[in-house]
Amino acid sequence: MNMKKIDKPEGKLGILVVGIHGAVSTTFIAGTLLARKGLGQPIGSITQLSTIKLGEGASARTPKIKDVLPIAKLDDIVFGGWDIYEESAYDGAIYAKVLEKDMVDGVKDELKAIKPFKAVFDNEYCKNLHGPWTKTAPTKWDLMLQIKEDIANFKKANNLDRVVVIWSASTEVYIPRDKNVHESLADFQKAMKENSPKVSPSMLYAYAAIDSEVPFINGAPALTIDFPAMWQLAEEKCVPIMGKDYKTGQTLMKTVLAPMFHTRMLGLDGWFSTNILGNRDGLVLDDPASFKTKEVSKLSVIGTILRKDEHPELWGDIFHKVRINYYPPRNDNKEGWDNIDIFGWMGRKMQIKVDFLCRDSILAAPLLLDLTLLMDLAKRCNFKGVQSWLSFYFKSPMHPDEKNPVHDLFAQNIMLRNKMREIMGETGYVNDYDEAEY
Ligand SMILES: NC(=O)c1ccc[n+]([C@@H]2O[C@H](COP(=O)([O-])OP(=O)(O)OC[C@H]3O[C@@H](n4cnc5c(N)ncnc54)[C@H](O)[C@@H]3O)[C@@H](O)[C@H]2O)c1
Repeated sequence: MNMKKIDKPEGKLGILVVGIHGAVSTTFIAGTLLARKGLGQPIGSITQLSTIKLGEGASARTPKIKDVLPIAKLDDIVFGGWDIYEESAYDGAIYAKVLEKDMVDGVKDELKAIKPFKAVFDNEYCKNLHGPWTKTAPTKWDLMLQIKEDIANFKKANNLDRVVVIWSASTEVYIPRDKNVHESLADFQKAMKENSPKVSPSMLYAYAAIDSEVPFINGAPALTIDFPAMWQLAEEKCVPIMGKDYKTGQTLMKTVLAPMFHTRMLGLDGWFSTNILGNRDGLVLDDPASFKTKEVSKLSVIGTILRKDEHPELWGDIFHKVRINYYPPRNDNKEGWDNIDIFGWMGRKMQIKVDFLCRDSILAAPLLLDLTLLMDLAKRCNFKGVQSWLSFYFKSPMHPDEKNPVHDLFAQNIMLRNKMREIMGETGYVNDYDEAEY
């Protein structure tokens, strides 16, 4: 294999999680620590379990990805992060009740040692949460500088070689792109110094990370890094960035079923999706302003797979609706229902019903592991800016303004694997994600 020259993952990798007390974060961290102790399996993680086909003809082989791709080893990871609650990641995992206490206790000491930094938090951007463990400063710019200090201190205190920051904190209220704030880096810096309401806490974490030359991932649907000022900063600092909104339950199903309708040339009249969810994420999304952010992310999926301009007779008038209902008895055990109205031969109508009793954080946790390892790899490959090859992991994948996002899970899988092959110096694979479109 003709391996490109990439810095090896030597030394320790720090993973800083924003929202480290949360259900997704603690399930990810506890699971990773359990897996490295041999006390659990990292099921759902492509980097840990999947194989990849390399070579052709007589030299064809299918090794495990983790054995051939130069990603960090689980043993070399050190966790840290921020939250509005002071308690440790252990307390967060027990509160979340995603993994049973007996299981979490297998890594109790390690989790108890993970104490959050004070958060940059503003109730205006997340109405249903109130937490005491927060930073104060006269301007948003100063708050951003405090986050930079946390990153530098974490790196030094743990003797780390590299750091990745991942946002797994609550969904912020909907903020559309503003041409006076988000278009240029100079305007955005000015807006931070002037405490503009168009600058949310997640943007401050992102700016601090990128300015520290640290890759940043956005697991929630908010604007955060999806605007030109951040892209410019990422280019200038040579930092990879990617988001947004982990693709877990209902959207995962959508990006599997919609390509099937496309492949079989079936028509679609409507798609109604509703959920019940009772964890803290559900509580936050009960606020209409935070739900709006999630709704925009969830609605973006179908129209790019089933394009009305391509086949108006099949997909010209699709009614798509998404609802999330906060229902505490279910906690993290979400139930998602889909009613899909399709039509076939001679316009005859049919229905599909999906009832997915999923476990939100169980589906999300392996995505955080893969994303942090792959973004660390991207940084060592000197990739910068938006990493569309990681679209596989997101509901609303970031992409250049002039291009369409790729939502089809199988097209995304090809993009992901072809980029891995390119990194390993394999030739003959198409890596431009345009090629993965229909
Ligand atoms: N679970 C899934 O399947 C899934 C899928 C896609 C996206 N997400 C997104 O992932 C995020 C986390 O989900 P969750 O279920 O773990 O929620 P959660 O409420 O359990 O955890 C979020 C954590 O973020 C903390 N927080 C909020 N604002 C913060 C800030 N400014 N700084 C630091 N910490 C902050 C909260 O205190 C909380 O501990 C949400 O935005 C959710 O929408 C989850």
